[in-house]
Order: sequence, then structure tokens, then C-alpha cells
Amino acid sequence: MKTTPSVITSSPEETKAFAKHFARTLKLGTILCLDGQLGSGKTTFIKGLAEGLGLKHSEEVKSPTFVLMHIYKAKVPLYHFDCYRLESSEELENIGFEDFINDPQAISCIEWADKAKGLIPASGRHLRFEILGESKRRIFIS
Ligand SMILES: Nc1ncnc2c1ncn2[C@@H]1O[C@H](COP(=O)(O)OP(=O)(O)O)[C@@H](O)[C@H]1O
Ligand SMILES: [Mg+2]
Repeated sequence: MKTTPSVITSSPEETKAFAKHFARTLKLGTILCLDGQLGSGKTTFIKGLAEGLGLKHSEEVKSPTFVLMHIYKAKVPLYHFDCYRLESSEELENIGFEDFINDPQAISCIEWADKAKGLIPASGRHLRFEILGESKRRIFIS
């Protein structure tokens, strides 16, 4: 039976450190789909990712809950979507979601990606976040 690799982190700092390292392994054009309940660490992970991609002010990284998308100017462009409040995929289509995520010169990450499933190519990588305890999280990576 195939099992999905996972890591367990014991603090937000550990999640960021893991993401920072993970960022350095990514090829341009990668699409990361992040799912898991509120507070499971998706945004925290993206902060670390942005640091790993050379963003100087990672405090800029916040869930773009009300605007659907943020663009960070790291060494490569990092597109950050949050579909939590998405009501229809038309909202994504209207902002050019597919053009952004298919940009071969950028990295894209999508929180609550399950809500945008129909628009994400099969090449998207999936990260699933689980809350194990107050400061313990498990991240499945496939
Ligand atoms: N191991 C951990 N990894 C990530 N976040 C953690 C961890 N332990 C506690 N937390 C806390 O959980 C919350 C995660 O929030 P956030 O990253 O915004 O989640 P999400 O984007 O999934 O809603 C933060 O308040 C963070 O401090
Ligand atoms: Mg978030």
C-alpha cells in the first residue's frame, strides 16, 4: 500500500523552517494546493515558503481572505490565493487565476484548493494540513 509522506511539526517556527527548506526544492511553475481546516498552518507554511524564495518581508504574507490573491515579489514571483470565501469559480476566472497558476516563471500556492479543483491542472502538488494538538501539526505531502 502506498502511503503519503508526512512531517510533524511542533511549533509555527518549525512549520516555517520546514517550508523554507521545501521552497528550495521547488521548480519554477510549481502549483501547491494547500488544504486543511482553519488554523491548521497553511498560511504559516506559505510564510516560510516565501522566506525560502527570498522574500525579505515575510510579514507581508497573510491570508488574502478578502482579496482572493496576493503577489509577493520574492526572487521569483509567488502567487498566493485563498479560496476560503470563494462562492463560485467564476470569481477566480475573472481575476485570471488560470493564467497566474500556469505561469512557468512563478510559484503558486492556493489555500482551500479543493474549492478550485476544476481549474487546477493535474500537475498541482498537494499538501494537506492536520491539527494534532495545540502546537502540533501534520503535513502530508504528495
Ligand atoms: N506546528 C504549527 N504549525 C503551524 N501553525 C501552528 C503550529 N502550532 C500552532 N500554530 C498556530 O496555528 C495557527 C495557524 O494559523 P494559519 O497558518 O493562519 O492557518 P490556516 O492558514 O491553515 O488557517 C497560528 O496561530 C499558529 O501560531
Ligand atoms: Mg490561511
